[in-house]
Amino acid sequence: MKIVLRLSFFILFLLITSCSSSKKINTDKNIDFTIAFGSCNKQNIKNKLWKEVKKNNPNLWIWGGDNIYSDTDNMEVLKNDYKTLKKQKGYLNLVKDIHVMATWDDHDYGINDGGIEFHKKDEAQQIFLDFFNVDKNSPRRKQKGVYQSKVFKTNKGSIKVFVLDTRYFKTALTNDTESTKRYKPNPYGKGSILGKTQWNWLTNELNNSKADFNIIVSSIQILSGEHGFETWANFPHEIDKLKNTIINNKAKGTLLLSGDRHISEFSKIKFKNLSYPLIDFTSSGLTHSYTEYRM
Ligand SMILES: [Fe+2]
Repeated sequence: MKIVLRLSFFILFLLITSCSSSKKINTDKNIDFTIAFGSCNKQNIKNKLWKEVKKNNPNLWIWGGDNIYSDTDNMEVLKNDYKTLKKQKGYLNLVKDIHVMATWDDHDYGINDGGIEFHKKDEAQQIFLDFFNVDKNSPRRKQKGVYQSKVFKTNKGSIKVFVLDTRYFKTALTNDTESTKRYKPNPYGKGSILGKTQWNWLTNELNNSKADFNIIVSSIQILSGEHGFETWANFPHEIDKLKNTIINNKAKGTLLLSGDRHISEFSKIKFKNLSYPLIDFTSSGLTHSYTEYRM
């Protein structure tokens, strides 16, 4: 757990479920940079957590997907749902003077558990970028998919944050017809989550990364795979590819963040050729979560 101890020097991750406390968490003088992240936010109901997130003085807010619940191919409905989120004063107050990074998941993408087949994905991407005030001339307007990276420098080191798009290129899932689970893993090697272009981008970006910590954000869980919902485990070869990409590019201090599940979870795995354990930290929902959960 060496990596976690080192990380805690200057990064405080906000476990969203811990935000019910009104105490200020970010009081440690050793903390130079605070990242807050969350996912699964219903725009139509009271968003209770923004004030609590703000109390922790984050330097960066990361949307992990399902930032709104729209589930539509009607782009006017999608725009209106984003407008509703912009009426959440707590959110506006949080992000007015900090950096924001974001990916989407299925409900803000437009189709439940959707992927490459969604016929309105290009239009939905432009509306997503509009919400985040991305300049009309930005290369992100022409790129297929919402993935991006950014380096943050602190007094004690640098952090490179990679936000993946796990929707735009994601190929078909395999329904599990033999159990109560929704999906089972594809045959090894079949299909992709990130698609070729995004994989090339990620490999390049990791290869060029001089950062002391590399944080990879995926809307769906990467390491937790037994539940039968959407997860990288439905594409087992993609997990191996990610592992090899991290190892081959000697990426330092890599940490995975995910959402989608409405529960908070830590998953840890130790790979033979990686000097530190890989941890996937899943945020619970911002507006809703499981009240009970059975494995
Ligand atoms: Fe989702």
